[in-house]
Order: sequence, then C-alpha cells, then structure tokens
Amino acid sequence: MKLVFATHNLNKFKEVQSLLPDTIELVSLTDIGCYDDIPETETTIEGNALLKVKHIKDNYGLDCFADDTGLEVKALNNAPGVYSARYAGPNASAENNINMLLENMTGIQDRSARFKTVIALSFKGEDILFEGICQGSIISQKRGAKGFGYDPIFLPDGKNQTFAEMTLKEKSTIGHRGKAMQKLITYFS
Ligand code: IMP
Repeated sequence: MKLVFATHNLNKFKEVQSLLPDTIELVSLTDIGCYDDIPETETTIEGNALLKVKHIKDNYGLDCFADDTGLEVKALNNAPGVYSARYAGPNASAENNINMLLENMTGIQDRSARFKTVIALSFKGEDILFEGICQGSIISQKRGAKGFGYDPIFLPDGKNQTFAEMTLKEKSTIGHRGKAMQKLITYFS
C-alpha cells in the first residue's frame, strides 16, 4: 500500500521508513512532485500536522500522513513548543535554536523537557491523530553529532547518551516520533 509521508526532511523520512513494515510503501513529497511550501500557521502541534495532510488531500487527492514535533521545556512554559523550528528567528539553523534555548535556560535548575510528536493521518476520508511523547532534560552543552535539531542537548530520562549520541535505531525505540509511529503502525496492522 502506498502512503505519502508529507515531509521534506530527509532525516525524518529515513527514520520513519526504518520503522514501517514492508507492506507499506512510503512515498515522499518529492516522489509525488510536490515542492509546495506547506504552511505551518496553526498555534498547536496538532493543528500544524492536520494542515499538512489537508494540503496533500486537497491538492493531490492522496492518502497521507504528516508529523509535527515540538520541544516543550517545563521551566519555559513549554516553549519553544510549536515554534521549535524557528525559535531563534524565521530562518534559524539548529545551532541558532540550540544557542537561544541554552541562553534562555541560563541559571534554571529544573531542566526537564519533553519532545511531543503528533502524526495526523488522512486515510479513506478520515482524519486520525497519534501522539508520541519522550520525557527528558536539557543539558547545558551539546553532545554528539548524529540526529538533527535539538538532539545534541536532549538527554532522554534514564539514558546517559543524548539523542545525538545514539544510533537511529536506539533513538527510534525510545523517541517521540517512534512512539507516535508505533501507534500508526498498530492502526494499519
Ligand atoms: P517538525 O515540526 O517535525 O518539523 O519539527 C520542528 C522542529 O523541532 C525542527 O525544526 C527541529 O528543530 C525540532 N525537532 C523535531 N523533531 C526533532 C527530533 O527528533 N530531535 C530534535 N529536534 C527535533
């Protein structure tokens, strides 16, 4: 069965592809010739995930799913949250965002945080949401070179490696996106 994963992020595509059973053929936005700048204008993670699948459904008529993720830091009232990608500004790099977060956390004792992924699935005319949460904490210096985004400063609870020090498989097993994906897989099995 063909299913579009509405993302331009190759890291995420690979991560999700490695989790799906062979019965599902994952198709990217590039595969369907979609180079649209899909808006992420909602104020919640759920809203943005739904916007993306609606765009594909309305413009390409294909079943698809999209994910939206945010890093929620407890002491910062759950910021950066839905604004994680552009925390340090509209064209911020991962490094800019990390630096901004570390700066805003200077002197803060409670470093607890969580990644939250919401997957919106548009399938046979129905919209369904799946959520995955990974609890952890924000360390004060970057560690590791794997992964992407905030991975070098996120230490999952009970682990002594940051997401950026883990293999893709290790991260997927305990990570937010992996957990949401497991729910999607269970839905199809
Ligand atoms: P998106 O909505 O999945 O594109 O994620 C928004 C932003 O959150 C990204 O630009 C990344 O900075 C960050 N992010 C999403 N997923 C992860 C992850 O698994 N690890 C680290 N950062 C992530």
